[in-house]
Amino acid sequence: MDDFELLKQEVNQCTKCALSTTRTNVVFGEGSQNAGIMLIGEGPGYYEDQQGRPFVGKSGQLLDKILDVCGFTRKEHVFIGNIVKCRPPNNRDPLPEERESCLPYLYKQIEMIEPKIIILLGATALKGLIDPNAKITKVRGEWLNWNDRLVMPTFHPSALLRNEKLKQPVWEDFKKVVAKYRELINKEHYSKYC
Ligand code: URA
Ligand code: SF4
Repeated sequence: MDDFELLKQEVNQCTKCALSTTRTNVVFGEGSQNAGIMLIGEGPGYYEDQQGRPFVGKSGQLLDKILDVCGFTRKEHVFIGNIVKCRPPNNRDPLPEERESCLPYLYKQIEMIEPKIIILLGATALKGLIDPNAKITKVRGEWLNWNDRLVMPTFHPSALLRNEKLKQPVWEDFKKVVAKYRELINKEHYSKYC
């Protein structure tokens, strides 16, 4: 078994924080272990908790559409993870101690996957990985640097479901990601619309 599988086994049995007592399934994340891009969300919701897979509910369907127009698939191009890997009850925000308990797993995933590009989906991912005081409305769409990796913060798909007006800026952000993917990873990368 490789290190990534071992990490997955460890996380799937984790009881480091109180979310372990209310979860149905741990959501380790999914995608390619060799992904050039890692997407980071907040934490599992109801359907993710039921299925043990990230972004499978309504926001997940929207995310899959966005990835599809960019020519990215879960199987080949991206790995999708979350700040916390167990569902907070009633989808409340994860607490600081829950984020702190879980973040080392995310760091390990990043270390093992070595993505060139990290996309942060929403405020919790931005605050959790970069800076608790950062504002998503202020920094989205701008490349940030984190441990020598390029980071693109953008709005969470669930925000787009609540506010149609956010679709355009998010599309602009993903177009930047596709351009950077061509520049750094595969200049032949095909996508339908950009
Ligand atoms: N929202 C998230 O932030 N993560 C998921 O996995 C699903 C919905
Ligand atoms: Fe462990 Fe993270 Fe789940 Fe808490 S949220 S129990 S730290 S895997």
